[in-house]
Amino acid sequence: MSKPLREATVLAHPNIALIKYWGKRDDRLNLPCAGSIAVTVGPLGTRTRVRWHVDGPRTKAPDRVLLNGSLADEGTQKRVVRVLDLFRARAGVHDWQAEVESENDFPTAAGLASSASGMAALVMAANEAGGFRFSRQALSVLARQGSGSGCRSLHGGFVEWLKGEREDGEDSHAVALAPASHWPLAVAIGVVDAGPKPVSSRDAMVRTFQTSPYHTGWVTRVERDLPGARRAVAERDFLTLAALAEGSCLAMFGSMLGAVPPVLYWQAGSVAAMHAVWAWRREGVPCFFTLDAGPNIKVFCPAEALDEVVARLAAIPGIRQVLRGQVGGPAQVLEQVEQT
Ligand code: DP6
Repeated sequence: MSKPLREATVLAHPNIALIKYWGKRDDRLNLPCAGSIAVTVGPLGTRTRVRWHVDGPRTKAPDRVLLNGSLADEGTQKRVVRVLDLFRARAGVHDWQAEVESENDFPTAAGLASSASGMAALVMAANEAGGFRFSRQALSVLARQGSGSGCRSLHGGFVEWLKGEREDGEDSHAVALAPASHWPLAVAIGVVDAGPKPVSSRDAMVRTFQTSPYHTGWVTRVERDLPGARRAVAERDFLTLAALAEGSCLAMFGSMLGAVPPVLYWQAGSVAAMHAVWAWRREGVPCFFTLDAGPNIKVFCPAEALDEVVARLAAIPGIRQVLRGQVGGPAQVLEQVEQT
């Protein structure tokens, strides 16, 4: 392999949506039907190193992508190369070849989308390694095209993904609503099933959009929920955010149930935990749940209630493991090496 010009390593955290993204108006560009609001979750993270090789036509040496120490499977490789191609086109460096090494320090069992933190870390590392000065907004647009939710992982704290109006998607990116220090929430992640999902979120989302009669109602609901969620975050209004987040999660699953064929990710443990969270809240424990495209449940609470929530969640039949997280910071450069 030719000599690297520069390399950089970036850490990005996954994110968990409170007002969900479910449905695309453009499948190729990952343009959503509506905006969404998420929380960046640390200390879990993806560390990605990008090395740019600049001498020699890239066709002779394709990009090399290592994921958790092994060569990435074909699907992942394609997705990464596509984002790198978009990056190269934007930067005007068509011949540069990339070497990418990415490690997740959270178990895939957590049911958190590592594609979100992975795509955010990838575009920021490509930017830093090459010495480019793309803004976080431009990087968010690029990460979005790798994985929609990836656009939100460039920022820390509470983040909104703006739907945008343009056909080219340049106005569909994430913005920071409030930093992690604004509201130190924590999250207990209850693992119900660590196995592969019956349907990928990508396929389930397209299916819901194309076949569910509830999809339009779902989009209307998101538009209605966004201002309230923004306000609840700004005012640290826990109970309002709890009601909006649980409502958004359940309505998203409602839209999936109407798909043909229907999509149902929940298992018995997921449902038991949802009922339990409602009972705990009635008892006065401040907590609320959300679930994504899988059976695992994420329970948010103020940091000081985390021990209690973790202990309660772990005692529910069907919950195999509980992981802890907290509101995390923005994607950041860990190391940058410049060749002399
Ligand atoms: C249920 O961002 O993984 O987690 O754009 O196809 O890569 P693609 O989908 P992805 O979908 C995430 C869906 C969700 C809700 C959310 O994170 O908002």
